[in-house]
Amino acid sequence: MKFSAAVLESLKARKPGYSLSQQFYTDPELFDLEMELIFAQTWLAIGHVCEVPKAGDYVTVNVGKDSLLIVRNNEGGISAFFNTCRHRGSVLCTKASGSTPKIVCPYHQWTYELDGQLIFAREMGSDFDKADFPLNKVNVEVAGGTIYVCLSDNPPDFSDYARTIEPYIAPHGMEDLKVAAEISIVEQGNWKLVWENNRECYHCQAGHPSLLRSLPESDDPNDPVTTPDAKAHMEKAFSDWEHKDLPYRAVNKNGWRIARMPLVKGAVSMTMDGQPAVKNHRLGTLPDVDVGTLRNLHLPNVWLHYQADHCISFRVLPISPQETQLTCKWMVPKDAVEGIDYDVETLTKVWRDTNDEDRSFVERNQLGINTRAYKPGPYSPTAEFGVKAFVDWYTDRMIEKLS
Ligand code: FES
Ligand SMILES: [Fe+2]
Repeated sequence: MKFSAAVLESLKARKPGYSLSQQFYTDPELFDLEMELIFAQTWLAIGHVCEVPKAGDYVTVNVGKDSLLIVRNNEGGISAFFNTCRHRGSVLCTKASGSTPKIVCPYHQWTYELDGQLIFAREMGSDFDKADFPLNKVNVEVAGGTIYVCLSDNPPDFSDYARTIEPYIAPHGMEDLKVAAEISIVEQGNWKLVWENNRECYHCQAGHPSLLRSLPESDDPNDPVTTPDAKAHMEKAFSDWEHKDLPYRAVNKNGWRIARMPLVKGAVSMTMDGQPAVKNHRLGTLPDVDVGTLRNLHLPNVWLHYQADHCISFRVLPISPQETQLTCKWMVPKDAVEGIDYDVETLTKVWRDTNDEDRSFVERNQLGINTRAYKPGPYSPTAEFGVKAFVDWYTDRMIEKLS
């Protein structure tokens, strides 16, 4: 039987409400299939508009074997290209970020405009037409200040997502932020384990002392584990935001979610003392500091927290079946001054701790799955419904693509 047919059969035979079988977390061939069917065909979050504020500012990123170049163009929009020269294929921009008036290949100096047009190529003969060799474009969209790309020529619809999330995020003024800190870690675990761990707080009580100082364990009034007290706290916040015209209602769709939720009583930011990490500033047009955290996720590779004083994004990029890069960025108002308005230690402490703790959970999970005794185990219906939803999303998507 062909490998993809065997994977399809295995997905169809999966016991609902149980974790996946071992090969889904270990098999290199299955990993390659996922990179093709999911990561090359879905919108992926790459970075933020505030990282490329001026024409010529760029960032590069690797998605699997593909190197991508995202640049602010001369029209003020965002362009995305495969970061490979049309001459003999050299990588064009080798740095993670930078600024350049033109894109110049370091090998033989073929030179491209910021819109990808080839404008200079030496000694190519009289028949050579530069118009035949523009950079290879990648589909790109911006939603809520985050840049998304899709490697497929037939990208799925993005408009419902973009239209829905925009009014929630707009008050946080994402264009007027800057990245104050960025940390990339490589977790020795499959990318789905990173998500499975993210989609539940069953592990939070024992595992995340820093995070629980500000983040409630439940983020939904209808969540079975929400206590009456927590529910009343949420409802008070909702009524407050309703009066202030601040979008908060949860929208849960297949593969993405947005919802504004209060932090624990008395906390206004995810810091060790629950107080803002950035002083003397408030993001965008927010009515006050008590706006909880706006939580946004888009499968398969990003979740974000938007608060009143800073925003945090978490980008997931698989490297191999048992290695996943997690890049965490902390964004603050662009005119906030380090050392006066904020310090990076206070700003990043909670999520540096939490990411490290989660890395351990994921890595131990992977090691246990690698043993010959591993068999899929059952999810808690009350505490792990988010994990079930993620694995169902994954299974449905793979079945659809393989059928
Ligand atoms: S490979 Fe880029 S100019 Fe030759
Ligand atoms: Fe966690």
